[in-house]
Amino acid sequence: RTIVILISGRGSNMQAIIRAAQNEKWPVKIAAVISNRADASGLRHAAEQGIPAIVVPHKDYTTRDAFDSALQSRIDEFAPDLLVLAGFMRVLTPRFVAHYAGRMLNIHPSLLPSFTGLATHRQALAAGVKIHGATVHFVTADLDHGPIVSQTSVSVLPDDTEETLAARVLEQEHIIYPQAIRSFIEGRLSLVDGVACIATDKV
Ligand code: GRF
Repeated sequence: RTIVILISGRGSNMQAIIRAAQNEKWPVKIAAVISNRADASGLRHAAEQGIPAIVVPHKDYTTRDAFDSALQSRIDEFAPDLLVLAGFMRVLTPRFVAHYAGRMLNIHPSLLPSFTGLATHRQALAAGVKIHGATVHFVTADLDHGPIVSQTSVSVLPDDTEETLAARVLEQEHIIYPQAIRSFIEGRLSLVDGVACIATDKV
């Protein structure tokens, strides 16, 4: 099995995935990490792990379509079974999303369908929710609305700031995202009639 990871920044989820793949000896090749920004600090970590760290700068392209086509070509050189978005901060075109239908995952830092878009922790604090979290989902053309694979929750504490809440959620992201990816790689996660299903371990 082959996976390609897309990042835009620090790549802490990417690191958690690489670490889990190594520690748990996943039958997987992390073929490349690709960023739309040359200054994404996660690229260095990938390179240090011997994983090709590639930049496809979105600024080099005048339209979303042109960028997505270039990105798709680079990705498909590695023929991935799964495309993993890990803090990839670009909206993708429907054509790109359709190309990876059923084989592209994302993690979003809220309990979807609540708090789509950006600044999710600020949104959660403003709404006064007592429980917040993160969601792994298949990517569809409808931003942050794809079939939900798994979720994790944390309590919102009275003295939480955006930063403290984000940090607690991130810790949980690093647990659920590798687990979901592992399920996919092991063939236990699939989309059935638009619903994500995870088969439990065989006994
Ligand atoms: C995470 O909070 C993730 O949920 C969101 O972007 C952030 C990326 O962080 N999609 P990192 O680059 O994985 O550290």
